[in-house]
Formats: sequence, structure tokens, C-alpha cells
Amino acid sequence: MKKLFAVLGDPIGHSMSPIMLNDVLTNNNIDAHYHPFKVSPEDLEIAIKGLKAIGIAGFNVTIPHKSAIIPFLDDIDELALRIGAVNTVVNDNGKLVGYNTDGYGFIKGLEPYISSFSNKKVLVIGAGGAARAIYFTMAKMNPLAIDITNRTLMKAKELIQACPFESNSKPLSLKDAEAHLNEYDVVIQTTMIGMYPNVSETPISLKNLNNQALVCDIVYNPLETQFLLEARQKGATVQNGVEMFVYQGALAFEKWTGIFPDVKRMRDNVLRQLEA
Ligand code: ATR
Repeated sequence: MKKLFAVLGDPIGHSMSPIMLNDVLTNNNIDAHYHPFKVSPEDLEIAIKGLKAIGIAGFNVTIPHKSAIIPFLDDIDELALRIGAVNTVVNDNGKLVGYNTDGYGFIKGLEPYISSFSNKKVLVIGAGGAARAIYFTMAKMNPLAIDITNRTLMKAKELIQACPFESNSKPLSLKDAEAHLNEYDVVIQTTMIGMYPNVSETPISLKNLNNQALVCDIVYNPLETQFLLEARQKGATVQNGVEMFVYQGALAFEKWTGIFPDVKRMRDNVLRQLEA
């Protein structure tokens, strides 16, 4: 019988996951369909019950349900619980189990550049939901240091305090981060600053950027934010948000099927959708 996979969100119309994941299902000869469902927050619980009742094979959740879904799951992976957000649910013999593949997806996307973080100083810009997934997951990789800068300094402090994994971390004001930017090997922009239509905005000045640094932005619309453009002009290696999106989807696919899919194929597919 054909299996069903899904993504739940609100809005959901612009999700690139259905095209990306239906293509890899077909490419791996899996008789299944991945469908987007618009589910409003008040309908989330009943939607989850319905999906469970029909025996859904697995699904993704996106904004605004990543935290709200947790009470409706049968089990949750420890890292996802600590992050407080789930983006992937596996149906394990009738039990719905939640995972978070955002942080690992981000880190897997860095593999071409970084094999070990033990000698890397990392700066995370932002202290929201995306920062939390990336920071907690990266803290597990034992980087030399992983600092957080945020417009509201208190939120950076709170994020560091909330991290369940031991890490060498300090909160920085945006001004302090700008002043000490040359110390960092990896700079990760986790806010929506610079996303279409506010394409000229950047979170911090890159005046003191180390030109050997790897600079990442989780934004993928535009593909090259003003922040990445400035980093590239300074000679840094840059990575846009397509990689995190593709790898979080690849890791979800692997959890559902046991197969790690063709990431190049997924990336090409996403880039085609973004160009269209
Ligand atoms: P998400 O879950 O997508 O990460 P969020 O939880 O709303 O979103 O977090 C947004 C992050 O972007 C926060 O770090 C926020 O900074 P504050 O904590 O000071 O609000 C940051 N952010 C958003 N707009 C910003 C702006 N114009 N300038 C600086 N930081 C901004």
C-alpha cells in the first residue's frame, strides 16, 4: 500500500519540502507520497490524532507548530526535548516519535569545510528558535568556544544558561561581537535579518571579519544575503541557508526510510524552485 508522508504548517503553500521529498521518494523507488497540509494552531491536536489514526508513515512540522506539537507526541528524542522543538516525526509501530533535524542538518551542511570543531571558535548571531537548535546541537560537538550575540543581550544569556551541554560560551552585545569578530573561525547568522523583502539589512558590521572565516546564513531568500555578500567580498568562505534546509530534509528522510538520500539532487531541486 502506498505510504503517506506530510508536512504540517500554517502557512504551508510556499513549502519547498513536497517537491524536494517527493522527488527523492520516487528516486529511491519508494511507493509513497509527501503532502503539505495547512493546519491551524487550534486544529493541531486533532490533526495529529487523525494522522496517527490513518497510520501516516512520518511527517515534518514547521512554523508555527514546532514547539506546540510536543505534548501530542508519544515520545520525543532527548535533543529535540532540550531544544523544545520538533521538525520531524517518525511513526514507530504506531508510536509517534519527535526529532529535531535542524541543528544536525546545519552541522552536516558544514562537513565539506569542517571535520572537527575542537579547534574552532564559533559565533552565533541571534537567540531565537533557529539559534537554539543550532547552538544546542553544536555545543554537543565540543567547539573550542561558541559565543552568542544578540540585539537583546538577556536572551543570549538565557540561551547559554538553558544549554544542557557543557560549552565554553559567553553572551556578547552586537557592538562587542563586531569589535572581536576577527577571533571567530565560524560565524552563523540565525535571524531573518536580510530576508526578502528587507534585503539590504545586516545584523552586524563585518569590518573586523577574519578573511579565513566560514560565514553562514540560514536565510535562503535571497540566496546571497547582503551579509554573505559582504563576507564574500572580505575573502571569507560563505554558505547560504539552502544547505541547512536540504540537510534537515535529508536527515528526516533517513529517519523515515533508513536511506540517506542524494543531497545534490535535493539541492538542485530546491535551487530550481527558488529560481522559479
Ligand atoms: P526564530 O524562531 O525564527 O529564530 P525568533 O524566535 O523570533 O525567530 O528570533 C528572532 C531572532 O532574530 C532574535 O534573536 C531577534 O533578536 P531579539 O532577541 O533582540 O528580538 C533577532 N532579530 C529579529 N529582528 C532583528 C533586528 N531587526 N535586529 C536585530 N535582531 C533581530
